[in-house]
Amino acid sequence: MRIAMIGGGYVGLVSAACFSEFGHEVHVVENNPQRLYALQNGEIPIYEPGLDTLVNTNMRAGRLSFGNNIAAAISDVQAVFIAVGTPPRNGDGHADLQYVYKAADEIAQSLTDYTVIITKSTVPLGTSRKIAERIRQKNPKLDFDIASNPEFLREGNAIGDFMRPDRIIVGTDTAQPERSQNVQAILRTIYRPLSLIEVPILFTNLESAELTKYASNSFLAMKISFINEMADLCDKVGANVHDVARGMGLDKRIGQKFLHPGPGFGGSCFPKDTMALMHIAEEHQAPSRLVEATIKVNETRKTNMASRIIAHCGGSVKNKTLAILGLTFKPETDDMRDAPSLSILQRLDDEGAHIQAFDPVGMETARPLLPHTVRYCSNVTEALTQADAVVILTEWNEFRALPPEFLKTHMRGKIIIDLRNIFDPKTMIEVGLQYYSVGRAD
Ligand code: NAD
Ligand code: UGA
Repeated sequence: MRIAMIGGGYVGLVSAACFSEFGHEVHVVENNPQRLYALQNGEIPIYEPGLDTLVNTNMRAGRLSFGNNIAAAISDVQAVFIAVGTPPRNGDGHADLQYVYKAADEIAQSLTDYTVIITKSTVPLGTSRKIAERIRQKNPKLDFDIASNPEFLREGNAIGDFMRPDRIIVGTDTAQPERSQNVQAILRTIYRPLSLIEVPILFTNLESAELTKYASNSFLAMKISFINEMADLCDKVGANVHDVARGMGLDKRIGQKFLHPGPGFGGSCFPKDTMALMHIAEEHQAPSRLVEATIKVNETRKTNMASRIIAHCGGSVKNKTLAILGLTFKPETDDMRDAPSLSILQRLDDEGAHIQAFDPVGMETARPLLPHTVRYCSNVTEALTQADAVVILTEWNEFRALPPEFLKTHMRGKIIIDLRNIFDPKTMIEVGLQYYSVGRAD
């Protein structure tokens, strides 16, 4: 099948590479000149494990190509995916749909033959129908259908998640049963290799598909905020949050995953999608107090984490040297969008700390976003040198593997503040370090 993908970012590029690996012929339209130039030359403008090989293999096989012209890209395709960004709108936290509508308008102007237009971007309820209306207005004679196919991949594990998802959600206009059946058949063909490994495809109406995406992200975010609150309680009462999480998670109705405490959730999606769902629910007079609370708990958490670091450093970080290990919102990505490090480091800088940071891949993206006084180090050892305290902000494997003796030898002080619980408390204390983690009071 011939497919066009509008947007070559995290989702567009990974989806396009995986669809081409399925055997489809995929052309990606990317309008950022630097990103496009890199992609056309086989370079990957984002850090995502395995993506380089997958993209280059499929480019060489002639199944994956890149350009900036929507008209040329969609002239002879059967399906066009829209995978552009839907960031929070300046000021009010609603999803900003300007990129989606611009892409839809360009598609409307260029299509001549029957095509299915599929929203892969995360969009508020009703957006797929609005896209269809816009296209109908701009190109009244065009025969097309609209579908919603939200994406559930995680950064850092994107290819694995795309190739072996728990489910695929496809929303269609079920008010037109025949057309809906046809669209379902096209989407089944696109995802055929996954049906062979028995990945369920759930067909719904457009609104259910759009809401499933927001509801899933918000539920996971809520789960994280819940365990973060339990971690704080564990600290007070002498319980161990990992035992509690395991005990809870063994109940299959709860599940083990996304019960790891930390400095609060970040990234390009949980913060913006919880905010967008809160607004969507308000607009439809069905407010979600749980989603509102999740957002508030997470904001407070980041502030509390900065205060906790200051408290563990004896009540002040003024003129103290802090080694910060990890800046990205999670490991295996260079993405800094809404990373907890942004607000935490700002506060530590405001309080007069000297910050020496190291992140295996995120420092280039982080530099323009963090206080200009932050010193970027080329490795862990450099960050530890003369440090009074070490703060673990992201659980990169490279940090997990650090022997406690190594930390003790290379730093000046003894304080380790581990906001990701990557070290064993007993071992750290045995070598003479002052070790603080999250929700592990015993
Ligand atoms: P991104 O910002 O990394 O990528 C979007 C890309 O689209 C950019 O490279 C931009 O230049 C390009 N673009 C914008 N308008 C264009 C146009 N008219 N023509 C061609 N290119 C255009 O965003 P992302 O992280 O890939 O997210 C895309 C969507 O997928 C969002 O709605 C997001 O919520 C959703 N999503 C993201 C993830 C994730 O892990 N990042 C996971 C699931 C869903
Ligand atoms: C998340 C979802 O997991 C994906 O299913 C979804 O497709 C994506 O958002 C999206 O819509 O963009 P992602 O943000 O890439 O994926 O990464 P996650 O692994 O979900 O982590 C998000 C944040 O939660 C990170 O800051 C992470 O550190 C934090 N987290 C995660 C915890 O604090 N504890 C956990 O147990 C899990």
